[in-house]
Amino acid sequence: MIDNKLQLLNEKNAAAEAGGGAERIERQHAEGKMTARERVEFLLDDGTFEEFDKLKTHRCSDFGMDALQYPGDGFITGHGLIDGRDVFVFAQDFTVFGGSLSETNAQKVCKIMDLAMKVGAPVIGLNDSGGARIQEGVASLGGYADIFLRNTLASGVVPQISAIMGPCAGGAVYSPAITDFTIMVKSSSYMFITGPEVIRTVTHQEVTKEQLGGAMTHNATSGVAHFATENDEECLRLIRELLSFIPSNNMDDPPRIACSDPVDRADEALNSIVPAESNQPYDIRKIIGAVVDDGYFFEIQEHFARNIVIGFARLDGRPVGIVANQPAYLAGVLDIDASVKGARFVRFCDCFNIPIITFEDVPGFLPGVNQEYGGIIRHGAKLLYAYAEATVPKITVVTRKAYGGAYCVMGSKHIRTDVNFAYPTAEIAVMGAEGAVGILYRRDLSGALDQASVRRARIDEYRDKFASPYVAAERGYIDEVIEPRLTRPKLIRALRLLENKRETNPPRKHGNIPL
Ligand code: HXC
Repeated sequence: MIDNKLQLLNEKNAAAEAGGGAERIERQHAEGKMTARERVEFLLDDGTFEEFDKLKTHRCSDFGMDALQYPGDGFITGHGLIDGRDVFVFAQDFTVFGGSLSETNAQKVCKIMDLAMKVGAPVIGLNDSGGARIQEGVASLGGYADIFLRNTLASGVVPQISAIMGPCAGGAVYSPAITDFTIMVKSSSYMFITGPEVIRTVTHQEVTKEQLGGAMTHNATSGVAHFATENDEECLRLIRELLSFIPSNNMDDPPRIACSDPVDRADEALNSIVPAESNQPYDIRKIIGAVVDDGYFFEIQEHFARNIVIGFARLDGRPVGIVANQPAYLAGVLDIDASVKGARFVRFCDCFNIPIITFEDVPGFLPGVNQEYGGIIRHGAKLLYAYAEATVPKITVVTRKAYGGAYCVMGSKHIRTDVNFAYPTAEIAVMGAEGAVGILYRRDLSGALDQASVRRARIDEYRDKFASPYVAAERGYIDEVIEPRLTRPKLIRALRLLENKRETNPPRKHGNIPL
């Protein structure tokens, strides 16, 4: 008797695991893609996947759908472990109705999201879908909206990661857009609101799928995605690594690992990375690399708004979020894209108890008609707002320029940064010396006999007075002017001090960040 029952169970499980059948699986493989089930197995620690709703079926009887049943209905949902920590996962199976979202699948996703919020574990979505299940109409649309609601409620409670490993079009893109990180696989994934055909009809523009919504478009141009990977395997490995920097929920601390890099390691090279000439470029990642544990920096959005660098690293084995102006690209100026990129990352770190280390070398906000018309005021304000509201430990190192409004924004003392360091090469002023002299002495200079030498003298005078860290240090806006080679021990000492930092914002429903 029991044998019969077990046989039935085995048959049902086997049917669910067969997905859309051998032919469609072959097509999936031929396109260089893993199946949904293979992806889940690859993502999680070996043998840890516990599947929910493996036998759940759709309820649609229109368009002959009652005769077409695949147990699980094309979404694989459940939980498992990554590096021994619980995570929830859903994976869209393109071999079953093109991975389209049915009412049933939406219920499956909502079930694991609700549980993830209760137990405090991250949610990972592996997207590969033709979108709303056409045969189900509004029931499917409602399912999407149910998921969007959960994405929103889970935001800042548990980390949410979206991998785009195939099509993701129409309103379906808004689920990944609300999540914290989006990873796209090159060549096989795309995201757009409307595809090339609709664009051709409506705007008469010719554009390919790849140009419109491919991995590099969203990594380099739109900033929608945070990472681009060569294939499915790299994408899934990247998710595992990303999670190693992030706590499981907003009540946990980020996972700490043993650190073999000496905490008191001074690095002589740091004393000569910032060039003597203040307009010479240098790569801020050299400073980051010289400071963090084992020189390892996990950069995020490396192709987008390259004038600001963001990412995770560890100091003393503890994850930190790094935000750094990049003098090697557009002189590290803050423009619209850089402001938005930085702001979202600062807010992520603040949600999840990750200290923020800022390396500052910024000539200011980018002047220009396009920037003003594009709303640099409101976008720049996002970065300011994000830094000001963040209550996690905040430490800033001014390596060179901290000019104008950008000085205030990039983790200044005035907006509750806990420890502010500056290198002796720092220049903290309202603007650069040339610009300041041009304004202050316009009248004198136009009448001077030897204009060039007078200008030079004025510039030197201004620079001596203001283009240094000492006026700020005298006022206590900088806590300490440090030798660059000591950056690592100084940061680690400050982080240890701030380990039990307690700071809260005034009670309110939520602030009104200038979106
Ligand atoms: C039901 C779908 C489907 C869908 C694909 N399939 N999309 N079934 N609903 N939305 C099925 C196909 O019938 C086919 O079934 C199988 O999946 C594979 O699809 P193909 O077209 O053969 O694959 P491919 O050539 O790779 O093209 C993939 C595709 C295309 C580009 C995704 O299928 C497509 O354009 N689909 C429709 C996309 C769409 O417009 N979706 C609605 C978007 S609006 P068989 O049986 O042959 O294997 C939306 C709104 C969300 O999603 C709203 C949220 C608020």
